[in-house]
Amino acid sequence: MPELQRLRPDHAPALLAFERENREYFAKSVPDRGDAYFAEFDARHAALLAEQGAGLCHFHVLVDGDGAVVGRVNLVDVADGEAELGYRIAEGATGRGLATAAVRQLCGVAAAEYGLTALRAATYADNAGSRAVLERAGFTLTGVEPLLPEGRSEAHYFRELRSFRPGGADGR
Ligand SMILES: CC(C)(COP(=O)(O)OP(=O)(O)OC[C@H]1O[C@@H](n2cnc3c(N)ncnc32)[C@H](O)[C@@H]1OP(=O)(O)O)[C@@H](O)C(=O)NCCC(=O)NCCS
Repeated sequence: MPELQRLRPDHAPALLAFERENREYFAKSVPDRGDAYFAEFDARHAALLAEQGAGLCHFHVLVDGDGAVVGRVNLVDVADGEAELGYRIAEGATGRGLATAAVRQLCGVAAAEYGLTALRAATYADNAGSRAVLERAGFTLTGVEPLLPEGRSEAHYFRELRSFRPGGADGR
């Protein structure tokens, strides 16, 4: 299993390669990041690290033995003990349980290291792979809402992190 690492400045080249190589693949399931994201990557990377330093978000990459980024798992909009979860896995690394394992691991990190008590997540309702990840990682469906004007729907999920505290079912 690739290692889950908190985002650092030196991850920039491998992260950019990951986003470039998988751009078309990701755009089938999530909104494309746009050309500016790639053109201004270094400045954006620095800005994200500054946000992370301020405690507003927690970014993570999945790094394989060669130093390549094969996935990312992020917590954004940290407030009131909660955060929004997002993730993406390199096309060539999908179907091996990587997203499920990384989300499960991050739930533990969120509770133990970041002191969070609950996570939210949202995915296109027709993203069956993403929904499977959330359900296997203990998230509960809270609602499905139409997205206008896209004509698609978005499924919303929630997971309390109480079980990761000492003495809880997932606590260590
Ligand atoms: C969705 C995504 C994160 C799944 O990553 P992954 O590492 O392959 O996920 P896992 O292997 O942990 O589990 C996914 C499960 O969903 C299933 N699955 C994957 N794609 C599927 C699809 N298109 N339709 C139905 N099931 C699917 C897998 O078979 C697997 O279940 P299984 O182990 O019982 O076979 C990855 O495909 C991805 O990054 N997609 C593009 C970005 C994205 O959609 N991000 C989520 C936005 S909220």
